[in-house]
Amino acid sequence: MASLGRALAEPMRFVPAPALGTIPTLTDRDMTTIVRLVYEKSGIALHSGKRALVTARLQKLLRRSGFNTFREYLRYLESDKSGAELTAMLDAIATNHTAFFREPQHFDFLTRVVLPALRNKAEIEPIYAWCAACSSGEEPYTIAMTAFEQFGDQTRRLIHILASDLSTKALTRAAAGVYKTERVESIPRHLILKYFDKQAAQPGTVRVSEAIRRVVDFHQINLLGAPPRGRHFDFIFCRNVLIYFDRNVQQRVVSQLEERLARGGYLFTSHSESLNGLHHGLTWVAPAVYRRDH
Ligand SMILES: C[S@@+](CC[C@H](N)C(=O)[O-])C[C@H]1O[C@@H](n2cnc3c(N)ncnc32)[C@H](O)[C@@H]1O
Repeated sequence: MASLGRALAEPMRFVPAPALGTIPTLTDRDMTTIVRLVYEKSGIALHSGKRALVTARLQKLLRRSGFNTFREYLRYLESDKSGAELTAMLDAIATNHTAFFREPQHFDFLTRVVLPALRNKAEIEPIYAWCAACSSGEEPYTIAMTAFEQFGDQTRRLIHILASDLSTKALTRAAAGVYKTERVESIPRHLILKYFDKQAAQPGTVRVSEAIRRVVDFHQINLLGAPPRGRHFDFIFCRNVLIYFDRNVQQRVVSQLEERLARGGYLFTSHSESLNGLHHGLTWVAPAVYRRDH
C-alpha cells in the first residue's frame, strides 16, 4: 500500500511544446493500446462505446503535457518507468463520481445493525473499516459522520477508517476534505453545522471538520494488487467500482475482499452491482450488503 505522500511525488520530465491548433486523433491502434494498458493496470474494462470518452479525456491530457499525437504520448507513457504518466492517464479515464450519503440505506444499516453490534467489541479493540474505492472522500467521511452520530466523543478511540483509491488526484482532494457548498446541500443541516467548517480563505467551500478527518486515513491501493495486510476489517465498503470490471477481475477482487473481512464482518457493494454468478461464501443480509459468517 503506497503512502499518499510518496505516491504523489512526480518526477521532472521534458516534453516538446505542442504545435498550435493541433487536435490529436485517436487511431484504432492507439485505442487498442489504451484499452490494454488500462485493463492491465486498473482492471477497468473499456469497451468500444467508451471511445468518445477516452478521446475527450485524454486529448486534454495530451495538450497539457505537450504531445501532438497519441502515438508519441503512448510511446512516452510506456517508457516512463516512474509510472507517473500512467497514473495521470488512469486519473483521467476513471470515473470518480461520488456523493455524501450516496445510497443512504447503507448508512442507515450501519446505524441500526453494524455499529451497535460492534460497540462492546470496540472497547477491547477498535472497529476497523475499509472504504476501498473512496474517490474524493465523500464516502469515508460519511462513514465517519455516521460513527460520530453513534459514538460521539468516543469515536476516535473506537473506530479506524482506511480509505483508499487508485487515483492519486482523487486522494489528494479527499485528504484535503474541502468541498464546494453545493456538494453538501443534500446533507441534513444539523450534520453540516456539526461536521463542517466554513472556509474563510476559499468562499463557497466548506471543510470537513478536523475531528472527522482524524478518523480517516487515506492510502493509494490498487484493487488489482495485494489488499492491506494485518487486521481483518469489521466492514468494507466497495461500491460503484466492481461495475467497471469484467467477471474475472470482479471475482479476483471479491475473493480478496472476502478474505480480508473479519468473521461476522460486512461487505457493502452498490445497489447497481451484484455478486450473482461470482464464487463467494458470503451471506446476503440486505440489498447490496453481505456478511462473512465462516
Ligand atoms: C465511481 S467512483 C466510486 C466512489 C465511491 N465508492 C462511491 O460509491 O461513491 C469509482 C472509483 O474507483 C476507483 N478505481 C477504479 N479502479 C480502481 C482500482 N483498480 N483500484 C482502486 N480503485 C479503483 C476510481 O479511481 C474511482 O475513484
